[in-house]
Amino acid sequence: MQNMIELQAISHHFDTASERIELFHGLSCTIRAGETLAIVGPSGAGKSSLLSIAAGLEVPSGGTVRFIIDGAEVDALTMRANSGFIFQQFHLMPELDAIGNLALPLRLKGNRDAFDIAARWLDKVGLRDRARHRPHQLSGGEQQRIAVARAFVTAPRFIFADEPTGNLDIHTSDSVAGLMFDCARETGCGLVIVTHSEALAARADTSLLLAAGKLELAE
Ligand SMILES: Nc1ncnc2c1ncn2[C@@H]1O[C@H](COP(=O)(O)OP(=O)(O)O)[C@@H](O)[C@H]1O
Ligand SMILES: [Mg+2]
Repeated sequence: MQNMIELQAISHHFDTASERIELFHGLSCTIRAGETLAIVGPSGAGKSSLLSIAAGLEVPSGGTVRFIIDGAEVDALTMRANSGFIFQQFHLMPELDAIGNLALPLRLKGNRDAFDIAARWLDKVGLRDRARHRPHQLSGGEQQRIAVARAFVTAPRFIFADEPTGNLDIHTSDSVAGLMFDCARETGCGLVIVTHSEALAARADTSLLLAAGKLELAE
């Protein structure tokens, strides 16, 4: 079944008290499940905003966004329910242990097998022996592995990652990146990554550069 996001002639701006910040104008792009896409570009170019729009978290100032899940057009709420998110700052729940963090999105969906599925993902990301550790007892790399597993645990159609390796050293970045791409390929979900890392962008099927309000194929 077809899963895709179509951005057609998207523009976006923010109004502040003193000025209007124009981010981009007339951007079009199609994102398909089963493909990996990297978005690179200078700080402030609007990469995070574009990611939020593609994920249905934010509505663009202009243009059309179409979300297709299992062959049918759906609204932003349904799109979000079929998405997983990974952030630079991990955003794990500090009061829950590793397996509790993994089980949470499943429990919120009323899944009775939440802890069994969470345990399988914990195994998959190599952290079975950290199940009862809370985030502050884990390294940055371990926390991000948990966050990657948490994004995939509900079997989403798309994963959105904003600077997922921005807080990790080079070696750890590489292993977290490998994990993300392996999970995306195995599950067949779409992966959209905003990154400053050339090494990370190079892993993606397609790399787009967002700069000066335009989106172009990166070198
Ligand atoms: N909610 C907001 N209100 C006003 N300005 C914002 C808001 N969100 C982002 N911006 C501004 O829009 C620009 C682009 O932000 P962002 O999408 O985060 O860019 P990037 O991720 O490429 O660094 C920045 O100048 C930022 O300050
Ligand atoms: Mg950003």
